[in-house]
Amino acid sequence: MNVLLLGSGGRECTLAWKISQSSILSELYITPGNGGTLEYGKNLGISASDFPAVEKFCLENDIQLIVCGPEQPAVAGIWDYFQRANLKHIKVVAPSQKSAMLEGSKAFAKEFMAANQIPTADYLEITKDNLEKAYQWFEEKNPPFVIKADGLAEGKGVVLPETKEEARQLIDEFILGGKFGTSSEKVVLEEFLDGMEFSIFVYTNGSQYVLLPNAKDYKRRFEGNKGLNTGGMGCISPVPFIDKALIEQVESKVIKPTIEGLKKAQMPYTGFIYFGLILCQNEAKVIEYNCRLGDPETEVILPRTNCDLLALFQAGFDNKLEGFEVGISEKAAATVMLVSDGYPEAYEKGFPITGIENVHQAFVFHAGTMIKDYQLVTNGGRVIAVTGMGENLKDALSKSYDAIERIRFKGMKFRTDIGFEFYPSEK
Ligand code: AMP
Ligand code: GLY
Repeated sequence: MNVLLLGSGGRECTLAWKISQSSILSELYITPGNGGTLEYGKNLGISASDFPAVEKFCLENDIQLIVCGPEQPAVAGIWDYFQRANLKHIKVVAPSQKSAMLEGSKAFAKEFMAANQIPTADYLEITKDNLEKAYQWFEEKNPPFVIKADGLAEGKGVVLPETKEEARQLIDEFILGGKFGTSSEKVVLEEFLDGMEFSIFVYTNGSQYVLLPNAKDYKRRFEGNKGLNTGGMGCISPVPFIDKALIEQVESKVIKPTIEGLKKAQMPYTGFIYFGLILCQNEAKVIEYNCRLGDPETEVILPRTNCDLLALFQAGFDNKLEGFEVGISEKAAATVMLVSDGYPEAYEKGFPITGIENVHQAFVFHAGTMIKDYQLVTNGGRVIAVTGMGENLKDALSKSYDAIERIRFKGMKFRTDIGFEFYPSEK
């Protein structure tokens, strides 16, 4: 099978690593890819959002499968594009455009959850036409408040103001000030949920699904969950407090109703669903849907699965997901992100990266890297994810942190306390 993988982050490097091990793979192409995906396939210079260019490449190179890593091509309708008569033979691992709205519009996701009785926070939809209702909400409820831009905002569209004055100012910035353009013309106000966050992942064909390993990511930039939100500074899997009963609850109250809801609303889905959840008084509630794998969640999930990833995708197309053995490893995995100085704000790029060849006990998944003049250099805010695996979380973390000591680039930063609440950090 010839495969084209779309994307360029740590998630895609991990997907490329896993796909490259498949017994049914012929050629793997990644576009645009990064300095690490080169090890597993050929990088292309095509933009993942340029569907006609993707189509041309697929037809000329006998591609049988497209795997969509990030959300943007899904929200822009890559799956629907390849439903045309002359392209239908090319399978696409991505949700349909309508299904991708579960991530592309917070208001759509809330309406979907309400229609399918899926537990989530109470909410209110606000536009410039009913802004007064938001001010009233801030008067009547207690802080912190939860304000979410409706559309995609690169992970920056959720704010949690601590006072009603701050809340009024922020909602004005979102709606009247156009902070995220059309993405914040509408916002969702949500009841604040207090509890432990965790993430559950499935692969589905829209009627059947398989469970993948669970994970917890560390979004804040600094130790102790302080500082700005990032795409994710590290991740662990499995999450120590998730037991069988909690998984069963999530399956019956969240996953199955979600898949039933997709079917009922005729929303085709071939791909991963990432359920962002929060455990409040023993009830798991959905805080977000993502129509893709997470990053850096993928860097801990895929190393813990022993199945052939292309065989998993094939089982989905053949309606044989039920009973498919994902082969989840008993081992723990932890990943730590090496980031550029300044991230998630302004940072410099182009610094040489050295020492990766000295890492033998951990996986090195590239995120923002590229090859320039035969030299591996930094090319983004999140540069490299280092994943350790071990008998337990402590082993996994120590493998990851040992490996990090061997890697160098100018301005390299990372969090020293990934997994800290489950294992007191000695770093
Ligand atoms: P989201 O992009 O919807 O996942 O939100 C980003 C982050 O905001 C989440 O990971 C939570 O930490 C926090 N958050 C979102 N919704 C709520 C909520 N209703 N109550 C408390 N925290 C929330
Ligand atoms: N790490 C969070 C995400 O991928 O959305």
